[in-house]
Formats: sequence, structure tokens, C-alpha cells
Amino acid sequence: MTKHVPPAQQDADFRKEILQGLTADRKAVSSKWLYDDVGSHLFEAITELDAYYPTRTELGILEAQLRKYARLPGARGAMVELGSGSSRKTNLLLGAFPDLSVYMPVDISANHLKEAADRVRRTFPSLAVIPVAADFTQPLGKLPLLPELPVLVFFPGSTIGNFEKSEAVALLKSIRTAMPGAHMIVGVDRPKDEAVLVDAYDDPAGVTAAFNLNLLQRINRELGADFDLAAFEHRALWNSAESRIEMHLESLCDQTVRIGETEIQFVSGETIHTENSHKYDEAAFAEIASRSGWRVLDSDTDPDGLFSVLTLEAP
Ligand SMILES: C[S@@+](CC[C@H](N)C(=O)[O-])C[C@H]1O[C@@H](n2cnc3c(N)ncnc32)[C@H](O)[C@@H]1O
Repeated sequence: MTKHVPPAQQDADFRKEILQGLTADRKAVSSKWLYDDVGSHLFEAITELDAYYPTRTELGILEAQLRKYARLPGARGAMVELGSGSSRKTNLLLGAFPDLSVYMPVDISANHLKEAADRVRRTFPSLAVIPVAADFTQPLGKLPLLPELPVLVFFPGSTIGNFEKSEAVALLKSIRTAMPGAHMIVGVDRPKDEAVLVDAYDDPAGVTAAFNLNLLQRINRELGADFDLAAFEHRALWNSAESRIEMHLESLCDQTVRIGETEIQFVSGETIHTENSHKYDEAAFAEIASRSGWRVLDSDTDPDGLFSVLTLEAP
């Protein structure tokens, strides 16, 4: 597997960012760190939940638009998928792109990525599958792409919603710079009834809670910390001013947690902010796209208007 970021570097980045995030005035950690092996499997379980409408809704939109996507030049070249996870949605596209030469899934969760790539290889044996274990917020210029192949970027799952608006613009710009002339199919979750949103991120079965709390377990395991998981609770709340769902881990008491030599104090009710999931209508996302130099060619939604899949081009 191509390792854009060596594992030792990822370990060092994890330590540095966790210590920085937990010693800040408002404790916050990037949602990318939710995805170790356990976190990636828990995320897959989330996508199967009744309450989690995005996965099945996006799959429906993709299925309805396959013939249109198959006409994009990159469907006969290389498809680069950002935050590919289980590559489940990808199978739909790969089945509809018989002339695709290269599939390059990029994900920070290295083992999960390898398993997914092996499954794709077994299903599509004539395709060159080149998994890249990397943080796609780091420079993408080193992706091992062939300059003569047209590129289609696939960025599903509303992963772009995990970024603050200015970060989303910077990321989309860096994708355009690394892959000039590419098209992109990007999944974006839309604003909707607050109860539906909160349920999707705080399901009755507690799978999302387990996904969020796994971050503390990961810090215990990888950084030798002593988080007591029973002393924290998962919270999902709608921030209407920012049009986003926020996930937090709330301390249930005053407590001190040790990460190696570092002591972190929590007061009761204080939270660690672990994820944002911004919700954009078409106009709001078109603005982000245009600020980053992409043009919206098309925007498709489901009959209930829950989710959008946009087709972008880099002029
Ligand atoms: C919301 S999940 C979406 C997974 C899948 N694409 C889907 O649509 O169901 C986000 C995915 O992006 C990956 N990811 C998150 N931040 C990342 C980063 N900075 N670099 C690379 N992968 C990242 C996670 O490991 C996870 O697989």
C-alpha cells in the first residue's frame, strides 16, 4: 500500500494534536482522529442504522445518476476517492465505469483502507487499485497519479461537512491544484428538521455514542492516558447559527486525566468538541465551491430533499 504519511509520522501527529486540543481553553480534537480501526468499524455500523439517513439516501441519488457520471472523462481514467472508508458506495460507480483504469482510495484509517481495497480488487480484478493511507488535508501533490489519465474525484459521505467553511474552501482548492482539470462528485448533507438531525448523530442504540467515546479509548491505548469512559457522555447538538451538528464528549464530574506526564483538568459539564457536520443547501455549497475555484455542473437530490450530490468541474 502506498503510504503518503508514514505510520510513525501519523502517531506523532496524533500525540501532538491531542495534547494541543486538550490543553486549549475550549477543548477540541479533529474528527479525523475518530477513525482508528475500531472507529472505522463503528462508523460502518452507524451507516446501517435506521436513524442514519445519509448513507442510504446518498446511495439512492448515486444510483439514479450513474449514467450521467459514466459520461465524465475521469470515468475512463482514474477515480480518486477521498475518505473512502469501506468503499461501499464506490462499488456502484465502479460497476458503471467499465473503462476505468485506476481506482485510488485515500483514507487516514490504514487497516480499514487495506481491507476495503482488497475487497474492490476481488470484485474488479482488471482494475488497478492503488490505496493511499494519508491525511488528505496534507499536501495532495504527492498522489501517485499518471498525468495522461483524466481524473474523477469522488468525495461522498458529506465528509466535506466536517470542515469549518474556510477549511472546506482550502481543502477544495488544494484538490483542484493537485488534480487540475478534474471533475468531482461530492456528497453534501442538507439542513433539515432538528429532531431528525440529532437522532442521526445520537441514535437510540448508542452506536454513535460508542463511536465518539472510542476516541478516549484510543487516547488511552495509544498515548497511555487514563480516561475513565464512564465519566464522559456523548452529546450531539444542533448549532443553528453555524448550520451544523456538533458532537461533544461531556465530563460528568470535576476530574483530572493524565496523558503521560500531562495533567488535563475537566470541570463537570465541560466538553471536548470532537466533530462538526455542516449542513449546506445548494446555494450555500455552490458558494464554497466557487470560492475554491470549482464550478457546479449539476446538483441532484432525493425526493425528500434530505441530501445532495453535486458534480463539479475545475475550469
Ligand atoms: C464520514 S466518513 C465517510 C466514509 C465513506 N466515504 C462514506 O461515504 O460512507 C469519513 C471518512 O473519511 C476518512 N477521513 C476523515 N478525515 C480524513 C483525513 N483528514 N484524511 C483522510 N481520510 C479522512 C475517515 O477515515 C472515514 O473513512
